[in-house]
Amino acid sequence: MTTLYEVHGTVALITLSNPPVNGLGHATRSSITDNLQKANADATVKSIVITGAGKAFSGGADIKEFGTPKALSEPNLHSVILAIENSSKPVVAAIHSVCMGGGLELALGCHYRIAAPGCSVALPEVKLGLLPGAGGTQRLPRVLGVEPALNMIVSGEPVKSELLAQIPGQKLFDKMAQSPESLAEEALAFAQSIADTRPLPLVRDLPCKHPNGDAYFQFARNMVKGMSKDFPAPLKCVDAVEAATKRKFEDGLLFEREIFINLMWTPESRALRHIFMAERAASKIPDVPEDTPKREIKSIAVIGAGTMGGGISMNFLNAGIPVKMLEMKQEALDRGIATIRKNYEAQVKKGKLKQDKYEQRMSLLSTTLSYDDLKDADMVIEAVFEEMGVKEKVFKELDRVMKPGAILASNTSTLDMNKIAGFTQRPQDVIGTHFFSPANVMKLLEVVRAEKTAKDVLATVMALGKKIRKTSVVSGVCDGFIGNRMIEQYSRQAGFLLEEGATPEQVDKAVEKFGFAMGPFRMGDLAGNDIGWAIRKRRYQEKPGMKYSKTADLLCEMGRFGQKTGAGWYDYVPGKRDAIPSQVVVDMIEKHRKDIGVAPRKISDEEIVQRLVYSLVNEAAHILEEGIASKASDIDMVYLTGYGFPIHRGGPMLYADQVGLFNVVQSMNRFAQNPLDDASFWKPAPLLARLAAEGKTFNLST
Ligand code: 3HC
Ligand code: NAI
Repeated sequence: MTTLYEVHGTVALITLSNPPVNGLGHATRSSITDNLQKANADATVKSIVITGAGKAFSGGADIKEFGTPKALSEPNLHSVILAIENSSKPVVAAIHSVCMGGGLELALGCHYRIAAPGCSVALPEVKLGLLPGAGGTQRLPRVLGVEPALNMIVSGEPVKSELLAQIPGQKLFDKMAQSPESLAEEALAFAQSIADTRPLPLVRDLPCKHPNGDAYFQFARNMVKGMSKDFPAPLKCVDAVEAATKRKFEDGLLFEREIFINLMWTPESRALRHIFMAERAASKIPDVPEDTPKREIKSIAVIGAGTMGGGISMNFLNAGIPVKMLEMKQEALDRGIATIRKNYEAQVKKGKLKQDKYEQRMSLLSTTLSYDDLKDADMVIEAVFEEMGVKEKVFKELDRVMKPGAILASNTSTLDMNKIAGFTQRPQDVIGTHFFSPANVMKLLEVVRAEKTAKDVLATVMALGKKIRKTSVVSGVCDGFIGNRMIEQYSRQAGFLLEEGATPEQVDKAVEKFGFAMGPFRMGDLAGNDIGWAIRKRRYQEKPGMKYSKTADLLCEMGRFGQKTGAGWYDYVPGKRDAIPSQVVVDMIEKHRKDIGVAPRKISDEEIVQRLVYSLVNEAAHILEEGIASKASDIDMVYLTGYGFPIHRGGPMLYADQVGLFNVVQSMNRFAQNPLDDASFWKPAPLLARLAAEGKTFNLST
């Protein structure tokens, strides 16, 4: 049963009951129309109330149904709304908590609407690369006015019901309930009071005009164009609302419907819908039930007040959780605190943080030089130098002082978490929390599950990640975890491309045009080329047969570590971040080509993008197969939130699915023929080869 039906005196009450948010899937839509018919057929019923059970009136169309035949099956949302409009008895929407997308469109089809205060009202379809497809663009301007409606439709942002109720002349709500608790009772009373009113009011009959339409819509288009560069939906929202002001209602509906269907098939919408699901799926761990008891984390200790320790601490201070930082020397603590202050002060200056909030946050921060002072912390995060010997000393100390049940986390980016856990007598309490730099800004948190990490520790850290507003993705233990393991292959390809004939600028421009926030060489200059150098030096020992381009080493030998040394793959003017193509670097690459006897060739942007992106995909397929990531969509979330992968492409795995895995494998086979590349790397991972052969995809959630 996806709706409930009860009769209260002369009022029929239809309650949407489709947890978690009363999505309007096919079963729910059918059930609404069935119950409407029932109410209309019952002579004792004089009016009807539609409301939602649980935590929403309705979150809108069922996103999980999109792309399946059920989404289009009758009754579709249009037919349900038409049935409501055509009901011979008045229908009242009783709105509370969440009223979004198709849920709001359903309410706009009702003859009357009563809302509880505190309800989040939105047409968020644009965030899924769509526009409201069941009359939202035609009806909302009629009840709110064109400008407030367009703002809501283009931004997709929720607005509180009590604020909407204050818009002069609004006809969205006929009445505001006193409180969410009294909504049902007030809605029944209201329905009784209007039972005999005729004719029944319909939103579609209201006028829709803007006094300076042409100028306003031109202005709106200019604004929207600037903000929505890779996405078609926002501009289409403007078109549809403009149509509401210029066309007859029915024509406007048809126009909106056509745009909705076209947008549904765009790769951008597919990507955004995938991300919506992937983000939520990331918090679900196959063998850790959602009701796993969690440990209480009321205080945090951070070891190391360097680049990462400071940023990590800020996350918890921002969430109101006290932090104690430990260092080896007072000077290091002072430096760490000064950096945190500087970051907060910059936010205050920009008006992003209020002075009293800043002070409140700083008051939660304390420091120490003694491990004994950490004993009461519920969780400790280590962010000291990336050396196993140093980590060993720290974890042995932590094992000595931390109270039983405390969670012991390491921010290591490359070291073996099983080994680190083994330095303690309580490996079940040890976990990796791999933050990304700057740790107070970057959304991604790789949560590294070691062999013996207890399930409740994992569940606790995932919940904590949500609290500090990170996108947390679980990774198994391997060198580089999910993200850095993949980026190593991407960087290797970037190096080969230089050797074969490309310039850093060409490579960066090609992937930036594809949509990456930054190409590999600009990224290297930002992060510091010495980091990759250190990793490669280790690799030359561990895997002597592994092929690398020497260009990056030659660059580092010239002391060009990137922005921090004023020169890297690019030149930099002191104090500025603009990357200026460098003749010195071009000369170095050309000399290197001569030294290794390579005649440069012209490389197309298409080849650059394919080699860089498919290198990610092939490594990701190994990662999936080895169980380091449990879902392809987790890998997409890592790349979208930690590595600047273009949002409108939905992540490397969705992108590969959309290109077609067969095509990806074909290209990889071609790259393997290139004698200057690493043929063994381009052997498709067995999982990828199998899926491609079977005509399957990485089996994503949407
Ligand atoms: N359809 C199906 N499932 C939905 C859903 C929807 N519209 N909205 C949310 N859910 C599911 C989520 O997938 C999640 O499922 P899970 O528990 O299995 O992971 C669950 O509801 C809870 O979601 P959140 O974790 O996001 O819970 P919150 O309480 O933080 O937020 C919400 C609730 C505000 C409703 C938020 O989920 C949201 O913004 N949802 C999207 C709403 C939306 O985009 N609606 C428009 C749909 S398109 C449409 O209506 C087309 C129409 O115009 C024709
Ligand atoms: P950093 O060099 O900026 O800071 C390390 C701090 O640890 C220094 O202030 C040092 O004084 C302190 N320290 C060293 N040994 C200590 C000990 N025994 N006890 C207490 N304090 C000690 O290093 P950074 O960049 O902050 O890195 C820290 C960890 O985070 C490393 O494991 C690194 O691999 C990891 N990491 C770094 C990222 C980055 O971009 N910098 C990104 C993700 C992870």
